[in-house]
Amino acid sequence: MAALSSCPATLFLLPAVVVLLYLFFSPLNENHLTYFLSSSTVFNPTKTSHTTLPEVFLNESLSVSIYRISKQKASSTVKVPMKIKSSLARIEEDLARARAAIRKAVRSKNYSSDKKEAFIPRGCIYRNPYAFHQSHIEMVKRFKVWTYREGAQPIFHEGPLTNIYAIEGQFIDEMDFIVGKSPFIAKHPDEAHAFFLPLSVVKVVQFLYLPITSPEDYSRKRLQRIVTDYVKVVADKYPYWNRSGGADHFMVSCHDWAPSVSYANPELFKNFIRVLCNANSSEGFRPGRDVSLPEVNLPAGELGPPHLGQPSNNRPVLAFFAGRAHGNIRKILFEHWKDQDNEVLVHERLHKGQNYAKLMGQSKFCLCPSGYEVASPRVVEAIHAGCVPVIISNNYSLPFNDVLDWSQFSIQIPVAKIPEIKTILLGISKNKYLKMQERVLRVRRHFVLNRPARPFDIIHMILHSLWLRRLNFGLPH
Ligand SMILES: *[C@@H]1O[C@H](CO)[C@@H](O)[C@H](O)[C@H]1NC(C)=O
Ligand SMILES: *[C@@H]1O[C@H](CO)[C@@H](O)[C@H](O)[C@H]1NC(C)=O
Ligand SMILES: *[C@@H]1O[C@H](CO)[C@@H](O)[C@H](O)[C@H]1NC(C)=O
Ligand SMILES: *[C@@H]1O[C@H](CO)[C@@H](O)[C@H](O)[C@H]1NC(C)=O
Ligand SMILES: *[C@@H]1O[C@H](CO)[C@@H](O)[C@H](O)[C@H]1NC(C)=O
Repeated sequence: MAALSSCPATLFLLPAVVVLLYLFFSPLNENHLTYFLSSSTVFNPTKTSHTTLPEVFLNESLSVSIYRISKQKASSTVKVPMKIKSSLARIEEDLARARAAIRKAVRSKNYSSDKKEAFIPRGCIYRNPYAFHQSHIEMVKRFKVWTYREGAQPIFHEGPLTNIYAIEGQFIDEMDFIVGKSPFIAKHPDEAHAFFLPLSVVKVVQFLYLPITSPEDYSRKRLQRIVTDYVKVVADKYPYWNRSGGADHFMVSCHDWAPSVSYANPELFKNFIRVLCNANSSEGFRPGRDVSLPEVNLPAGELGPPHLGQPSNNRPVLAFFAGRAHGNIRKILFEHWKDQDNEVLVHERLHKGQNYAKLMGQSKFCLCPSGYEVASPRVVEAIHAGCVPVIISNNYSLPFNDVLDWSQFSIQIPVAKIPEIKTILLGISKNKYLKMQERVLRVRRHFVLNRPARPFDIIHMILHSLWLRRLNFGLPH
């Protein structure tokens, strides 16, 4: 593919590579790895020691590849006699092997695999393609998630499958024991690397909050109580929460309110992983611990927006946005651009006959301003339409940021520069635009929803984000 040569290696990649290598080879980092690999690793959930680990390790473990799930070959590593070891010791050894393999791939810059990979991540859209390649192989080979059985529908074990919160329900559906058939589902909690609390915040709001008739009805207390109670139930019944202080436990939600699940009891949720669309770092989202979940607006009966993207030489519109005036950032956007320019098309409503997906497909750049929460489904819609996303937000931690280098295929415009949108976009050379657009097409596979999930698609990327976080600490055994 021409893609590879089109990366601005000297301009963009070099600083990133230097940082990655520095992180990887620095004495500090060696210590971290020794720390990871040492069997005497002690996890202390009350100390912040392990919170500093992800920052070092995540950056380097980011890359991709492809494999066939059904034909997993046995690992070539020597098997230790298992029966004399505790299940946790086995898990930690497994993780140690995965870390070693990733480390080796980063060092040798090698795409090695013991089977033929159908996809190999290459190029500058990845922070470290070798690390991602190997990490994904290791994930497919090893990663197991236990979804707790406790809790009843409709609040547990099911979520919304369509509309803007769809990713929440789709993920629960993929990983839940009731319908899920994912190869990542653990058969027994003793073999799990991570534990999923299958609660849907959207369903909680729908069944326990609506109708909302007074301001007090917005209180997050009910939601917080449900999650806290659930943790207490599973922590009483099983050893898993207590042994990690919740650090290998996670929930997934796209609802705006989801970040608040942990506010009422910060101590209890200190180590817990929240997978959130509303990844607002000024509202307590912790990029090394929490996971940013892409928002995907799914029409009923479909797994993604229609592909109406035009080739890059047939995109007459410079920039496009259509949507409601939700939140402060859009208010500013509308003040400057609403219905005012014939190259920067900003509309609150489309006219009759205008097609949203088609307009995205005819635009070079698609504006993705935050609304009532930092995430917007437009980011994924733009990528699907082959339109370069223009992220206009504050404190938004972008999805899969630890693997993907967003600066290679999106533009970030600070809120203060909204008046200059047109100047900024017109200032991007044709050549640079063409490269970015081509990278948008390449990154698309990571934002495609398949059911069941497929290698490197959006669900694999979410799982991989969790896998990376789990790689970053060891539990005492
Ligand atoms: C590594 O991660 C840290 C913390 O998340 C971030 O500040 C830094 O920019 C990252 N470095 C690279 C090269 O991505
Ligand atoms: C890369 O991997 C291949 C196949 O496993 C091996 O033959 C080659 O020697 C490796 N190269 C390096 C630099 O490790
Ligand atoms: C986990 O810790 C809590 C609080 O200390 C305790 O009540 C619970 O019994 C413990 N769970 C198990 C399985 O020991
Ligand atoms: C949030 O964004 C604002 C504006 O860009 C910035 O000043 C502030 O430092 C950010 N806060 C965090 C926690 O990142
Ligand atoms: C992010 O959090 C900050 C602090 O709570 C808030 O002021 C801001 O409005 C949030 N951003 C969005 C888009 O909701």
